[in-house]
Amino acid sequence: MQRIFSGIQPSGIPTLGNYLGAIQNWVGLQQDHECIWCVVDLHAITVFQDPKGLTAATREMAATLLACGVDPVKHVLFLQSSVRAHVQLAWIFNCVARLGWLNRMTQFKDKAGKDRENASAGLYVYPNLMAADIHAYHATRVPVGDDQKQHLELANDIAQKFNHDYGVEFFKNIEPLIMGPAARVMSLRDGTKKMSKSDPSDQSRINLNDDADTIALKIRRAKTDPEPLPSETEGLVDRPEARNLVGIYAALADTDHAGVLREHGGKGFGAFKQSLADLLVEKISPISQETTRLLADPSALDAILHKGSERAAAIADPIVAEAERLVGFLK
Ligand code: TYM
Repeated sequence: MQRIFSGIQPSGIPTLGNYLGAIQNWVGLQQDHECIWCVVDLHAITVFQDPKGLTAATREMAATLLACGVDPVKHVLFLQSSVRAHVQLAWIFNCVARLGWLNRMTQFKDKAGKDRENASAGLYVYPNLMAADIHAYHATRVPVGDDQKQHLELANDIAQKFNHDYGVEFFKNIEPLIMGPAARVMSLRDGTKKMSKSDPSDQSRINLNDDADTIALKIRRAKTDPEPLPSETEGLVDRPEARNLVGIYAALADTDHAGVLREHGGKGFGAFKQSLADLLVEKISPISQETTRLLADPSALDAILHKGSERAAAIADPIVAEAERLVGFLK
């Protein structure tokens, strides 16, 4: 059975992008894979986080994942900062990855913005830690949204260079799993920008804890164009906002763009938005209710994470100890 690893940052309330691009797929993959799911708090602090806020957001993310159907018994759910192997391997990878490779990372350029000199060193080496997350478990498949593709290519470059430099076949090639019609959910205000937890406008995204009225309002206000929906997928070319809403609907209804257009093609956005809002409320409300229920008992939540961290460490520690021996550390 192939081992799967994926992670999510506890840097805000999870969005519909996180859900459709990643979490919903994670839950489906649990049926026929061994899965390791990680709340990546070390990655979150590459941008300053208020400590109390980070603790709360970490529990909220863990509760949300459980509410979405992540299974912490058959699979593993844990906190990155609780398993030291991630940082130990990340340091080795900092010494394997080349500056030229990191300089090409578009996400660093986007996140650092114009004031690059003032970005943290952690933000720069972020992809090396991400590579360590995956390779510490010898995971071979990684389900992510489209925005993480470049980081996974780098994780493969790092594994290859490590194997080449030390003359071994130790780290494995990983296969990105970028799945479904919503691998890149866009902002509701601008169909050319990714939906993101960190966008200053709350109207740009659906948060997984939004109530029914908020969801309906945000969808009603979502940017669109004046044309009705096309009947064929070719009609979505150059209509980023329409394409985005159709992709969201498709992922929620477990179909594809063509399937949605067969049912809704020719309708105006007023009617389509109403159907989309209803579908969103039907899917998201149970998740937010279950998240609230789980958050009411933080010690039970912490116990699940603690157990998960022990199980994760039992897999990662021997793999990283072997990598250290290969490097020549006296063990
Ligand atoms: P993060 O926390 O930004 O996002 C978590 C997951 O959600 C996906 N995603 C989206 N998918 C579609 N549309 C969107 N608008 C959207 N926004 C977010 C992301 O692609 C991701 O799959 N670096 C990672 C976390 C990470 C990781 C890892 C992932 C750390 N170590 C190891 C895989 C393997 C990140 O920042 O995800």
